Amino acid sequence: MDASPLAVVAPLLEARKNLPGGLLPLLHDIQDALGYVPPAAVPLIATALNLSRAEVHGVVSYYHHFRQVPAGRHVLRICRAEACQAVGADGLIAQAQAALGCGWHATTADGAVTLEPVFCLGQCAVGPNLLVDEDELHARVTPAAFDRLLEGLREPS
Ligand code: FES
Repeated sequence: MDASPLAVVAPLLEARKNLPGGLLPLLHDIQDALGYVPPAAVPLIATALNLSRAEVHGVVSYYHHFRQVPAGRHVLRICRAEACQAVGADGLIAQAQAALGCGWHATTADGAVTLEPVFCLGQCAVGPNLLVDEDELHARVTPAAFDRLLEGLREPS
């Protein structure tokens, strides 16, 4: 780990180290600040919170919310909940995984896209739906629309 992530983690550790039940809030703080929880931070967290490395690693790896490597340039979240499934989400997911060459919680080899599942985006009447990054909702996504979207996401920023 280079000095920069450590420099970010250190004050967050300091702020949470004496708070009971501080592990999850600390992990959220680190992920919010860096976009992931660097594996090299695990022993520092363990020491600060008087936990074992295994305990910290167990929590980081149990919750898919916590990344252990940085995400791609874009995060693509495809809705897997019932209403979207009823209108073709499974086909869209298969298309996405084949086109991206990766499964859930993984990133394309070119670093362009990280694929994540989501369970309802609140737009159940207009599925299948997906979300790009934090706020770009796409509804009624057809195979052709997905191909066009992916082309845009793969363009270097
Ligand atoms: S089920 Fe997909 S948006 Fe609600």
